Amino acid sequence: MRLVIDSADTKWIKKLVDYFPIDGVTTNPSIVVKEKKPFLPLLREIRSLIGDDKDLFVQTISTDAKGIIQEAESIVNAISGKVVVKIPVTMEGIKAIKHLHSLGIRTLATTVYTPMNAFLAAKAGADFVAPYVNRIDNLSGNGVKVVEEIEAIFRKHELKCEILAASFKNVQQIQQVCLAGAHGVTAAPDLIESFIKIPSISSNVEDFKRDWVSLYGEEHLTIEAE
Ligand code: E4P
Repeated sequence: MRLVIDSADTKWIKKLVDYFPIDGVTTNPSIVVKEKKPFLPLLREIRSLIGDDKDLFVQTISTDAKGIIQEAESIVNAISGKVVVKIPVTMEGIKAIKHLHSLGIRTLATTVYTPMNAFLAAKAGADFVAPYVNRIDNLSGNGVKVVEEIEAIFRKHELKCEILAASFKNVQQIQQVCLAGAHGVTAAPDLIESFIKIPSISSNVEDFKRDWVSLYGEEHLTIEAE
């Protein structure tokens, strides 16, 4: 199961890649714009932080298939390592995904709101689909259920496409899509960090240390071979 950072903030990426078992980084135009940096150097900086073997997901901007295909080709030519092109699931997007699949360029179908969005993208050859869990919830839908249904369709019909669930507001949504059968999640850095930033854990660790120091006096283990 994949754990991916949904951010272009290089400070966060550097920290999380250092500490956590991260599989890649997803970006979208809004995420990139937040960094206020030139586009290509930013992507290359992210690449240097994650290494060539982790997936870097980059979204296209054009809305016609021809433009999407051209952008996809320039993205994969300009960035080293494993790149996946993110394409919204519009008519033109699906056409582009179909063509890029025939060229061997990996794609992720983004802005997925329904199981049939995902079905069409997978049939067209997308390697990943990204259901927008929180945005679905905000429309009074059920993002987790959408993930569950996509997983059932892919499994029943042996569609070789991974669900990289996206758009989360809290850890509960992430945990539920893990249970619903998502093959991966992409989440904001602070959400990923909060998987483990639990006051009870730090408090327990402080108690253990205090108890230890009260008898042995040292803040670490010193074990000498006999
Ligand atoms: C990732 O691929 C999506 O672009 C992203 O998760 C959207 O998240 P948001 O709904 O929090 O903006």
